[in-house]
Amino acid sequence: MVNKLTIIERYKKKIKLLNKHNKLYFNNDNPEISDSEYDNLKKEILDLEKQNDFLFKLNLNKKVGTSPSKKFKKVKHLKPMLSLSNAFDKNDMKDFISKISNFLNTKGKNIEFSSEPKIDGISATLIYENGVLTKGLSRGDGVVGEDILENLKTINEIPKKIKGINVPSLFEIRGEIYIGKKDFDNIKGNFANPRNAAGGSLRQKDSRETSKIPLKYFAYGFGAIEPMIFATQSEFLEKIKNWGFSINPLSKTVKNLDEIEAQHSYVDSIRSSLDYDIDGLVYKVNDLKLQSRLGNTSSSPRWAVAYKFSAEKAVTKIKDIVIQVGRTGAITPVAKVEPVTVGGVVVSNATLHNEDEINRKDIRVGDTVQIQRAGDVIPQVISVDSSKRDQKSKKYIFPEKCLCGAVTKKEVNKSTKKEDAVRRCLKGYECDFIAREKLKHIVSKDAFNIDGLGKKVIDQFWEIKLIRQPSDIFTINYNKIKNLDGWGELSINNLKKAIDKSKIIELDRFIFSIGIRHIGQENAKILAGFFQSINKFKDLFNSKERKKILVNLIELDGIGEIQIESINNFFSINTNTEIVKQLINQLKIKNFKVQNKKGKFSNKTIMFTGGFEKMSRSEAKTLVENNGGKVLGTISKKLDILVIGSSKPTKKKIENAKSLNIKIILEDDWYKILNL
Ligand code: IVH
Repeated sequence: MVNKLTIIERYKKKIKLLNKHNKLYFNNDNPEISDSEYDNLKKEILDLEKQNDFLFKLNLNKKVGTSPSKKFKKVKHLKPMLSLSNAFDKNDMKDFISKISNFLNTKGKNIEFSSEPKIDGISATLIYENGVLTKGLSRGDGVVGEDILENLKTINEIPKKIKGINVPSLFEIRGEIYIGKKDFDNIKGNFANPRNAAGGSLRQKDSRETSKIPLKYFAYGFGAIEPMIFATQSEFLEKIKNWGFSINPLSKTVKNLDEIEAQHSYVDSIRSSLDYDIDGLVYKVNDLKLQSRLGNTSSSPRWAVAYKFSAEKAVTKIKDIVIQVGRTGAITPVAKVEPVTVGGVVVSNATLHNEDEINRKDIRVGDTVQIQRAGDVIPQVISVDSSKRDQKSKKYIFPEKCLCGAVTKKEVNKSTKKEDAVRRCLKGYECDFIAREKLKHIVSKDAFNIDGLGKKVIDQFWEIKLIRQPSDIFTINYNKIKNLDGWGELSINNLKKAIDKSKIIELDRFIFSIGIRHIGQENAKILAGFFQSINKFKDLFNSKERKKILVNLIELDGIGEIQIESINNFFSINTNTEIVKQLINQLKIKNFKVQNKKGKFSNKTIMFTGGFEKMSRSEAKTLVENNGGKVLGTISKKLDILVIGSSKPTKKKIENAKSLNIKIILEDDWYKILNL
């Protein structure tokens, strides 16, 4: 026993020393020991761990080999690096295809897709100028990445110079860095999986460290290309393969749902024999012209989807059922289960979705259940083995009150008139449980994006009452953090800097951040375009002014009755308004920059009636916006042009437009204007 304690003592001391030298080296750029002394220290720690399993339980060593650096230069991507939406089964894929056909209005015609494995690694983008690799960036937050060129250059599979003819002068290649499974087995150390190891290695400040780990690269796409010389994704892959890039050999084109399914089953069946981890296949519309017509939503392209392999399943027992309150007040039942490993991860919580789901499956405490975990999705309970049920078990009664004590309600959907399956607490910021979740939303990436203030830290600060409402974030008493676990002078300084930086915020981000239900990123942008400045937005606080404004909002395409009612509900609660007011006082909110895209419809407002032959309404709307115009949802004096599609236009709208002397354009003229 004495021996064990001595080892723990020794180990703790070495970890402390390592942390000190990590800080000196990575953050302060001021090392006190030589590289080899540092390497020896790391080796001593790893050796101690290897010889003494119990040290892992202390969970102290997250640093060896992965020490991230805050020193990489931040660089804005030439084109944002988006993420992919997911599909989990044939039906999801059917939906994906029909959404595309609807958008392009090409019902019935087959669309060709490029099918490629989705490599479970770390994405990186490579920029070649006149054939020479000049920049290499990590994904970062998708808009701004980090300059990791030197580290990327250590990867043999990445060409430093492109050997080929007619290589575009600006050529940006995107791909995935990974570690082969066999290589990973040799270097494992204390990494949980190859993906983490690849990430850790790529972010080494010293590229000599990166070069010690056998990283590999598959190219799968492009960012900026000038001039554009490719017509299809498959042609692009083929060409760059000849130019020396490593392309995944399982890439192929498919023409319909059956071929998609066949390829999916085939790759799934050989998946375990591959030397790299994949978690599904990516399907991309092959024709690049169609890709550009489809464009992107705010987070992912409409022309691609990640079709994930089926979820990993496991059997366990429910110890308890508790409820959780989300930031919109949604009450979610969660099963606390006996810990079980699903797909390499230990799971002890699984969602039960909602009250109806529990009733339908008659899920009870004590039940033996099957759970599944797919990708990053929260594990879920999928079925109950009632044969294993204890005779004395009782039906689960869903609580009617929120954790804050308020009565919860199921709302009735306005258009379907159906009762919602989800119970909600309607207290907004007045409910402590909602307030805490709203804070987590406010600091998140798409909102204030405050580095170092994640969910766990919000929980920590909430518990000690340091932060209870959004404005508290900006008036933190940093002296109170000093003595908390895990906080040191440097991390406090970094937090201060991140918080100060986030005080200057765009109006649309601000509107999204305050967390009004039904107001996501897209709607927040539309609203910011309407209000333009925070001063105008503040008029919503006054109930009379609010009424006047809300009537006008219906004109905005994308904002409907549901959003308007939700805005009204939000600001009708005094606490919400007060909290938003106090938050505004701490910030500098930038006016919304109307993106005056120059184009055929600059400063013009357009409205559509009737369907078009060659395109969907969504595509028509995107075309207007990309050409500098704005689409309106109702006819008023503010409207400049009414475009009449040939299929079932509304007579009344045409008459209204005529009486207001609004310019009217027919479908054929519409195509002519756009040179289609
Ligand atoms: S295409 C707009 N193709 O998956 C994004 N991505 O969730 C286009 N990934 O960040 C991505 N293999 O790092 C694409 N064959 C593949 C991929 C792939 C892995 C990763 C990539 C991206 C993430 C998207």
